[in-house]
Parts: sequence; C-alpha cells; structure tokens
Amino acid sequence: MFVVLLLFILGDWTLSKGAPAPISREIFVNPQGGSGIYTTIQDAINQGVPGNNTGWVLINVAPGVYAENVTVPRDKPYVYLKGHQRSTTIVAWRTSDGNLWEATLMVLADNFIAQRITFKNTFNVAGSILGNDVKPAVAVSVQGDKNSFYRCAFIGVQDTLFDAVGRHFFRSCYIEGAVDFIFGDGTSMYQACVINATGYGFITAQRRETPDGPSGFVLKFTRVIGTGPTYLGRAYGAYSRVLFYKSTLPGSVDPKGWDPWNFVGHE
Ligand SMILES: *[C@@H]1O[C@H](CO)[C@@H](O)[C@H](O)[C@H]1NC(C)=O
Ligand SMILES: *[C@@H]1O[C@H](CO)[C@@H](O)[C@H](O)[C@H]1NC(C)=O
Ligand SMILES: *[C@@H]1O[C@H](CO)[C@@H](O)[C@H](O)[C@H]1NC(C)=O
Repeated sequence: MFVVLLLFILGDWTLSKGAPAPISREIFVNPQGGSGIYTTIQDAINQGVPGNNTGWVLINVAPGVYAENVTVPRDKPYVYLKGHQRSTTIVAWRTSDGNLWEATLMVLADNFIAQRITFKNTFNVAGSILGNDVKPAVAVSVQGDKNSFYRCAFIGVQDTLFDAVGRHFFRSCYIEGAVDFIFGDGTSMYQACVINATGYGFITAQRRETPDGPSGFVLKFTRVIGTGPTYLGRAYGAYSRVLFYKSTLPGSVDPKGWDPWNFVGHE
C-alpha cells in the first residue's frame, strides 16, 4: 500500500513539473474531541487547511461515524484525508430529495487523496431497491483534477459515485449501488476495486459527449458481485466510453452487457 501511494505521489510530482509538495502540516479529527483535535472533518478543512495551500495537509480521521457532509472547496488543494479502516471510519449523510449536486463528500479541489474511509448516502436506505421511491443520492462527487481514493468505500443505491470531471484514480475501493452508480464525465482508472450491484440497474453511466473528448472509465482487475440483474453500463453521452479489463463478472450481469439508453445507433 505504502509503495503504491508513494509511486502515485511521485508520478504526480513528475506531471506537475514543479517542486515536490511535501506534507507541510498534520491535523487530527476525532468525534470524541480532545485538545487541539477537531470533532468534524469539515471543521478540520475549514480551520486547519490554509486557502490556496501548496503543501499536503494530512488530516488523520479517527475511527467513528461522522454524521456530516464534507466539502473540499476549490481553493483548498493538497488535502489528504486518512482514515483508519473503511469498516470503522464512516462518513454518513442523507442528501435532500434527488439533488445530484449535493453529496456526502464533495471534492472541488485539485490534488486530493482519501484513504480507508467509507462515504455513504443514506437517502435510499429505507426504500426498497426496486421501489419507485429510489432517487439520485450521491455519496461522493469528484470534481477536481488529480483526485485519488485508496481502500475507500462508496455506498448508495442510485448515482452513488459522481465521477464528474477531471483525472481520477481509485485503487482497492468498494463501490455499492444499483442504478448508474458510477457516472459522469471523468477520466478515470479504477484498479482492483469490488463493485456490488445490489439491484436492477446499470453499473456505469459515462458521459463523454464529443468524439474527441478525453473522458472515459477504465475498470481494471475489477470484481463485480451482487444479485443485480445489472448491465455493465448505459450511455449517458453520445460518445460514452467504458472499458472493463481482466475483470470477473457474475451471472447477474446481463449477457448483452450494455444498454444504449438515449443513444441507439451510436453502438
Ligand atoms: C486564493 O486565491 C484566489 C485567487 O488568487 C483568491 O481570490 C482567494 O481569495 C484566495 N483564497 C484564500 C483563502 O487565500
Ligand atoms: C450540509 O450540512 C449542513 C449542516 O451541517 C447543511 O446546512 C447543508 O445544507 C448540508 N449540505 C448538503 C449538501 O447536504
Ligand atoms: C452487497 O450489498 C448488499 C446490500 O447492501 C449487502 O447486503 C451485501 O452484504 C453486500 N456484499 C458485500 C460483499 O459487501
């Protein structure tokens, strides 16, 4: 794990061509509080991360359930949110009725890392998965460039992970949902993730809209599980692009694989 992270950060340094960004500050969050310790992740970001900062701020998140929504604003890059284990470090929030532009975690800044944390949107939890009351409820919305997630979990039913825009990397994550639960116009690599398709629906809904657009999702060494029935994806844009590479798929994946949605003729 450490080696992988280090390689990623080194890669990032090379890409940015500037001086390496060191960890310049380390802060702590714990719901129990304590001297010099923030009790919410949002307080840590608001008060502990300087605006327009240029060095990584490592935010150590103690085990616990954090009942809050978290936004990493555009002018707070280089935030590194580090949990303990995704089974014990949980951020859970219920967004309002079907609003795609709300989320349990919203990342607007570039150069963001989260590790070993579960992000959950509880909106659809009370409803039956096949019921009419299921609506978009985003657990994580990723809108910065060079945002990455290691050993995190993303839990929801519809629209769990909004891979909206920018270059993103997901490694050894767990992603749960039923309808369009990895969606957006991001340019992303998902490596060695487990995807739990919990009801009738579509794993991905990628939204590339022009033939020369850079975006697309690559899912590499993925293990799909769950009862489905599910499709690998449906086209959310006319040039939707998704690749599953060396992955294992259960019988609950429809043999047709894909659904053209509103783009019949673009297959
Ligand atoms: C960050 O930089 C922008 C653009 O220069 C500026 O408008 C903003 O006020 C800065 N924010 C902080 C918190 O310094
Ligand atoms: C986030 O939580 C605050 C209360 O802490 C609330 O005022 C705000 O509307 C919430 N935002 C979202 C996107 O749910
Ligand atoms: C898949 O999701 C369902 C519904 O939340 C859950 O009951 C099941 O335990 C999950 N499977 C795994 C392996 O986490």
